[in-house]
Amino acid sequence: MILYYSGCGNSQFVAEQLAEKTGEKLVKMHLKETASYTLRAGETVGIVCPIYSWAVPRVVEAYLRRMHVEGRPGYCYLACTYGDSLGKAPERFSKTLKQIGWTLDASYGFVMPETYVNLKAFKLDSAEGASRKIDAVRERLPKVAAQIARKEKVTDVVRGKVPWLNTYVTNALFYALLITDRKFKVGESCVGCGECADHCPMGNITMENGKPRWHGDCTNCMSCYHRCPQNAIQFGSATEGKGQYRFGKI
Ligand SMILES: Cc1cc2nc3c(=O)[nH]c(=O)nc-3n(C[C@H](O)[C@H](O)[C@H](O)COP(=O)(O)O)c2cc1C
Ligand code: SF4
Ligand code: SF4
Repeated sequence: MILYYSGCGNSQFVAEQLAEKTGEKLVKMHLKETASYTLRAGETVGIVCPIYSWAVPRVVEAYLRRMHVEGRPGYCYLACTYGDSLGKAPERFSKTLKQIGWTLDASYGFVMPETYVNLKAFKLDSAEGASRKIDAVRERLPKVAAQIARKEKVTDVVRGKVPWLNTYVTNALFYALLITDRKFKVGESCVGCGECADHCPMGNITMENGKPRWHGDCTNCMSCYHRCPQNAIQFGSATEGKGQYRFGKI
């Protein structure tokens, strides 16, 4: 079984590719629900998701803590996507899994196009840069699928500078200070199509009088911003002029 969560499509692509290549069943994590699963004896479980602030998103960790599972994985791996680095995310995630009685056997990292644009200094990759990253991942996926099939115990990730500091200190500050939906605003070009609301993984957007309204339960996945066909959504002034990215749309 491959459990996946994706805001902007990168992790969904990796999950779909791994499912196709390993023959494992693909299961979307509906983040607000409490799921129940029954595992086959020795079943491999993959968790596929993006990295948020050098760690597995807290909403994914909360989902895994809440779920009810019969049986234990025979082999459990994390396959995560990130723009450049993930710090100590595997070690931190391994502790979370321990709390539910699971062991993290392997971590595979995939460098994919950036989606975080909520601060002035953070920009999207150029179209060429994004394509290069995706091509490199496409090339690597068969090798990773083979490693998973062999149940290899490896950690193949890019950690970046000061990994411990980023995963444990910057991450705490990030969640305390920066994760918010209060800065979202919608412009005149909104046509009321409801795409932003339909695809919010947190169910945090409702349409009111033909415009989106945010309700304070946001993980800053940026799907609403990147998906809007009118580019009508902005996050304060930080996103102005930055353009949009969504897997398959470059
Ligand atoms: C809230 C947020 C935080 C992020 N933090 C990191 C990070 O710490 N390191 C990194 O390399 N990329 C980071 N990114 C980029 C994403 O991890 C990357 O673009 C990922 O592939 C997005 O996956 P998705 O399309 O499945 O949502 C962040 C993106 C978001 C939206
Ligand atoms: S409101 Fe937008 S950024 Fe927040 S979780 Fe929903 S889609 Fe993602
Ligand atoms: S996706 Fe864009 S155009 Fe459609 S309702 Fe949301 S803000 Fe308006």
